[in-house]
Amino acid sequence: MRRTFAALAVGLLTALPAGAASAAPTQAPGCDVVTAELTWGFKESFRAYIDGSIANGEWTVADGATYDTPDFGFPAESGRVDPRQPNGSIAFAGSVRFTGHGGILDTTVARPVVVIHPDGTGVLLLDVSGPTMEGDQVSVVEAEFLDIDLTGQNLTPVDGVIRIDAAPTTLTSDGAVAFPNYEAGTAFDPITVVADVGDCDLTGQPIGTDTTGDTDTAGEAGMPWLLPAIGVAAVAVGALVVALIVTRRRRP
Ligand code: HEM
Repeated sequence: MRRTFAALAVGLLTALPAGAASAAPTQAPGCDVVTAELTWGFKESFRAYIDGSIANGEWTVADGATYDTPDFGFPAESGRVDPRQPNGSIAFAGSVRFTGHGGILDTTVARPVVVIHPDGTGVLLLDVSGPTMEGDQVSVVEAEFLDIDLTGQNLTPVDGVIRIDAAPTTLTSDGAVAFPNYEAGTAFDPITVVADVGDCDLTGQPIGTDTTGDTDTAGEAGMPWLLPAIGVAAVAVGALVVALIVTRRRRP
């Protein structure tokens, strides 16, 4: 009887899929951004043109953006990054309004978003509005404005901080439509991102799958059958223990 009980108990437990014994919920690997800043000069030659003798203009920052020569600063609104793939995005607040030529030039760029793709490429999305040099009116939201070259960037958090240091950028084809004075491929100023991710724990399931279910996790979302299976096993083991005790008591 004892051998039967032991074999049955072992059988029940081993019948449970791997990972069932360590069913503690795991934290998703993506890091929520606590605070972050995007530092970016937009385009040095454009700034020189604006505040030089041709455009006789200026720029003004709003909605949280700052300017400290030669860079604009944009504070993060929200963001989530998985440094291991890497993968994610950080959205920033703030706007910069460039004016010149007595008001004929009046372009506002706002709300940049840094997107990091798993293939190692990056994109900067941007809202752009205002008249072009040809007099057409542009108004785009979250346009893919710049390609970001992330080659050599290590996105592993150091002391809770993820850094993208002076990553080179070039104008995309959509960017050239939104800002038509430059051709696609034109170099813009490099971007620097400093993102505080606190004490983010990188174990668990991939970014974006924590609420939809994932096979890498032992959490409820990934293995909905797990808790019922453990319950059934516990009841079966309990019944066997009772049976064992009753059998022993009946022995002469
Ligand atoms: C009265 C109207 C305008 C005049 C007379 C004018 C004139 C000029 C001139 C002479 C340049 C060449 C600057 C240089 O090579 O150093 C230039 C460049 C440029 N203009 Fe205008 N412009 C006008 C309106 C606009 C408008 C509405 C925009 C829209 C954003 C614009 C955007 C640009 C840009 C992006 C450059 C290139 C700056 C650079 O990176 O060197 N301009 N403009």
